[in-house]
Amino acid sequence: MGRFDEVYQAAKADPEGFWGQAAEEIHWIEKWDKVLDDSDPPYYRWFAGGTLNTCYNAVDRHVKDGRGDQAAIIYDSPVTDTVSHLTYRQLQDAVAKCAGALAARGVEKGDRVIIYMPMVPEALIAMLACARLGAIHSVVFGGFAANELATRIDDARPKAILSASCGIEVNRVIPYKPLLDAAIQMAIHKPEFCLLLQRPQEQAEMTAGRDHDWNEAVDAAEPHDCVPVAATDPLYILYTSGTTGQPKGIVRDNGGHAVALKWSMKNIYNIDPGEVYWAASDVGWVVGHSYICYAPLLHGATTVIYEGKPVGTPDPGAFWRVIEQHKVVSLFTAPTAFRAIRQQDPEAEHLARYDLSQFRVLYLAGERCDPDTLEWALEKLQVPVIDHWWQTETGWSIAANCMGIEYLPVKPGSPTRPVPGWDLRVLDADGKEVPAGTIGALAGKLPMPPGCFPTLWNAKERYHNAYLKNFPGYYETGDAGIIDEDGYVHVMARTDDIINVAGHRLSTGAMEEVLAAHPDVAECAVIGVADQLKGQLPVGFLVLKAGADSSNEVTKEVVQMVRDRIGPVAAFKSAAVVKRLPKTRSGKILRATMRQIADGAEVKVPATIDDPAILDEIKETLASIGYPKAS
Ligand code: COA
Ligand code: AMP
Repeated sequence: MGRFDEVYQAAKADPEGFWGQAAEEIHWIEKWDKVLDDSDPPYYRWFAGGTLNTCYNAVDRHVKDGRGDQAAIIYDSPVTDTVSHLTYRQLQDAVAKCAGALAARGVEKGDRVIIYMPMVPEALIAMLACARLGAIHSVVFGGFAANELATRIDDARPKAILSASCGIEVNRVIPYKPLLDAAIQMAIHKPEFCLLLQRPQEQAEMTAGRDHDWNEAVDAAEPHDCVPVAATDPLYILYTSGTTGQPKGIVRDNGGHAVALKWSMKNIYNIDPGEVYWAASDVGWVVGHSYICYAPLLHGATTVIYEGKPVGTPDPGAFWRVIEQHKVVSLFTAPTAFRAIRQQDPEAEHLARYDLSQFRVLYLAGERCDPDTLEWALEKLQVPVIDHWWQTETGWSIAANCMGIEYLPVKPGSPTRPVPGWDLRVLDADGKEVPAGTIGALAGKLPMPPGCFPTLWNAKERYHNAYLKNFPGYYETGDAGIIDEDGYVHVMARTDDIINVAGHRLSTGAMEEVLAAHPDVAECAVIGVADQLKGQLPVGFLVLKAGADSSNEVTKEVVQMVRDRIGPVAAFKSAAVVKRLPKTRSGKILRATMRQIADGAEVKVPATIDDPAILDEIKETLASIGYPKAS
């Protein structure tokens, strides 16, 4: 048996022993009563009875252990021409003062705080300050529109919102304050106060009585100490796309999260404390939570906050420049970033300008990694390229090639094997396991390992219905795939209407809700079509109400509506008017069939189709807007 199999089997045979031992790496104020509380299946809790503080584990303990002068954060911002370092000691001071500023204004354990920030060190400081107080943060990605922020404000009901005057997208300054003000106005719940980081690129107008200048508030604050919280208390809520416009509030607890992420840094990513690890994502996504903020800091590593893009800031050599300049040993990003680099620099000529001799491994996740991209990265970088699969819900890998345990042979297109702690199965529609190599629903036998979401914020029933109900005893991932005869997982597609645009998870259902709100639209459908750069792109189909003007105006208007209500990140740029939508006889819209036409794939016309002739119209409409794309 290889080393990986040994570790995997150990976790399977004795999960409590395995994770109990991993938990010894974390500083506990009080040890847990039970590693796994399984008294209320299908709901499980890890480290029940234990108390700790996540911020203490991520910051203070490293200062105490002699890492005070080591860089905790490297901030690299080509868009503002800034590079700066924050040591663990400086981070401790900044976080304690930020926590003090929040506490002075009434933020306590259990209160929610929304963080709507660009990629600046203050975003991490804000997250850690909340963790320090036991307050529950909810970071909202900067590319979401005011309406999405308002939805999250009403669901999380924050006492405070922390934001900045602007973000910077390559060379455009994006003022955040108007979005924040609009969101607060739209929301029913109102925060008691806001802290605003004024950036030199943009001065935000302050609302008297509600808004406070970040620097002034922090400078005047007394440092606040770490507040003990239960292992099972929420650390954060992160909203992610569900099948409707109402996002799901993924809850992460303190104890299981700290244990799992700390374990993953050595065992999955093979990082040692003191090394520089870079996740090129955004704090608004789960990758940013887990691998820009918490995991590297829990591990005593150095994390990089990169405020830039893989291309255009200033060129497709940007990633190599960061890796060389900061001595990054491993990079984690989405395949789309590599597709963008490859598109602009197919021969990787920029790579020759940099010394990447200390760079060890490239990790890719967030979307299916096409073998072409993986092989290109492998050939150009000459280091292992590791695809791994996970979700906002799980907070860390479900399947990966665990580089710190044993480097298994890579099969391009597969994120390798389920990681220790996951008992993954492929089920048919009746919940029966299918033979190796057969496609079905990917489902994890309960309990999930520590670090995965124990519930949805204020929505236990939705948690049950969305994830646990279809296959009793399992967590339904929402992904379809196969496990082959070697035990390798292949993630093929979502089983719901979630699409993945440039590594960003979006709901076509939410976009349909926006289109349907247009006064001229009688019916609509949004599908995700294959895109060479972004993986998928949304395309909308509109059936207009009788008598409505069928000119271009409606399509332009719905494009603008999605941008205004969901945000630019949806990348919704194509919509077309059709006379009818293809449906089954029972009235279900045949989105999968439309997708096959758009992708130029083999079209499997369902026997239940109401009128096959409609497909010709769809084909013509798609052709008129450029689909299928020539590959
Ligand atoms: N604030 C405001 N607007 C934002 C934003 C933010 N934080 N992030 C993105 N946007 C806007 C962009 O400016 C763009 O607007 P536009 O339509 O006016 O051009 C739109 O949202 C789409 O952004 P993005 O998905 O970043 O596309 P892009 O065309 O600008 O760049 C890539 C394409 C591939 C370079 C980019 O998607 C990328 O770097 N992806 C890396 C993957 C990643 O970080 N994934 C996260 C999970 S690991
Ligand atoms: P998110 O919650 O935004 O991280 O998105 C999670 C979804 O992205 C998963 O359910 C998958 O559909 C997809 N995904 C993430 N990583 C991978 C991967 N390595 N291979 C295939 N799909 C992936």
